Amino acid sequence: MVLMIVMTKYIRPHQHSTDRQSRSELKGHHAAVLWFTGLSGSGKSTVANAVEKELNQKYHAHTYLLDGDNIRTGLNKDLGFSAEDRTENIRRIGEVAKLFVDAGLIVLTAFISPFREDRKTVRDLLEAGDFVEIFVQCPLEVCEQRDPKGLYQKARLGEIQNFTGLNSPYEEPESPELTLDTSVLTVMECVERVIQYLKDQTILRD
Ligand code: ADX
Repeated sequence: MVLMIVMTKYIRPHQHSTDRQSRSELKGHHAAVLWFTGLSGSGKSTVANAVEKELNQKYHAHTYLLDGDNIRTGLNKDLGFSAEDRTENIRRIGEVAKLFVDAGLIVLTAFISPFREDRKTVRDLLEAGDFVEIFVQCPLEVCEQRDPKGLYQKARLGEIQNFTGLNSPYEEPESPELTLDTSVLTVMECVERVIQYLKDQTILRD
């Protein structure tokens, strides 16, 4: 801690002449973070992927998807699934998302992010309106039935500890900007709702 204080003491932010506003104007849309949260197997990655495809192909929006593939195998490969590691996982993802927002992109994130407080930390890191919390709702039984990676089965057999929904908590969002029930809606219906929200908020232009 002392070392960190010493090291940051001499860091002064440099005033950049190109800012978020000018980058955003070039792109023709506003920047934001679409934060998908939900249980494993709820459909976060599937829906986020489909939204990104629609944003790219139909709206020519500049996007970036952060998910387990590019984060937990790289930047966060030193982290596991204890409560502390999950908090650190989300903190780092929040900081990366903030950089991409500053670059003018629509960032999509697909992480369980089970703790309310951690999601709030990311919300507070960003400007008002930039954090769009999307609760990918799906009953645990349905997620477990889908079990796309066979992990629920392994967790039930005791091969995986602290598995979200079974022996590690998932704290549902209390007032998310959007809720998508993937046990009822199709992927395209979910995409349409997200796109409509972005238009309503004028993050995206028609
Ligand atoms: S988070 O809780 O820290 O947000 P994250 O979204 O990065 O989790 O990773 C979740 C993915 O890791 C799951 O979809 C699953 O594939 C895998 N995984 C491995 N171990 C666990 C575990 N104990 N609990 C939940 N997911 C796990």
